[in-house]
Amino acid sequence: MPEKVTTRTLIRWKQDGRRIVSVTAYDYPTAKLADEAGIDVVLVGDSVGNTMLGYETTLPVTLAEIEHHLRAVRKGIKRALLVVDMPFLSYGVSVPDAVYNAGRLMQAGAEAVKLEGATEPVLQSIRAMVDIGIPVMAHLGLTPQSIHKFGGYVVQGRSEQAAEALLQAAQAVQEAGAFSLVLELIPATLAQRITQTLTIPTIGIGAGPFCDGQIQVLHDLIGLSEQTYKHAKRYAEVGQQIRSALEQYAQEVREGAFPTEEHSFR
Ligand code: KIV
Repeated sequence: MPEKVTTRTLIRWKQDGRRIVSVTAYDYPTAKLADEAGIDVVLVGDSVGNTMLGYETTLPVTLAEIEHHLRAVRKGIKRALLVVDMPFLSYGVSVPDAVYNAGRLMQAGAEAVKLEGATEPVLQSIRAMVDIGIPVMAHLGLTPQSIHKFGGYVVQGRSEQAAEALLQAAQAVQEAGAFSLVLELIPATLAQRITQTLTIPTIGIGAGPFCDGQIQVLHDLIGLSEQTYKHAKRYAEVGQQIRSALEQYAQEVREGAFPTEEHSFR
């Protein structure tokens, strides 16, 4: 049985210079495949809203929805560290509510929670969660729950002032007790600067090659997303394969070519 990945493992790997590999999963079969493929960190992302539930943004995702997907993913994971996104409004309003909601996700099988941003309520929530034993992964840069504030999926931290603010936010989440930090859609050189400054591992998505690890949305990697993105690479065309399998099935049923005797019972 390979070594279970924990929050401590990730910090050790940063010190050893071993890169962390992470991907999202939202259901039992893909979680099992990710775990068997040796993925180190599986995230039940609130991108479930876009990838699985047909929402345009992550904002409508509820705690109940993410918990439902988390319970399925939990069943498929043995080795990877299992992290879950806290949905919009489940934190950032009141610290006790945030801690309670995080605890609910831990009871559903998560081993850590992920929070976006570094506002004072978020920093207070990170401290309070860590205090009662809930590990927190932070998330800075393009944080999709603030998409309407950013006015679109645009690269963050491009000006010197914005870069400095992101560096300070990264230090603040580390000081608050986060065990790792996702950096999304920021210039590679800024991600490198943050990675070199922090003692906790950085995990990048659209943040260049200098982070301590990389995370991708599963559907973008396997060709199940409708769009393609500059920050992602399609390693398979699963969507095309599913469509062509279904077209072939439909054709064979209509032509009477399926089922045959082979698929029938006497
Ligand atoms: O929800 C998600 O998929 C994420 C990753 C993009 C980091 O937060």
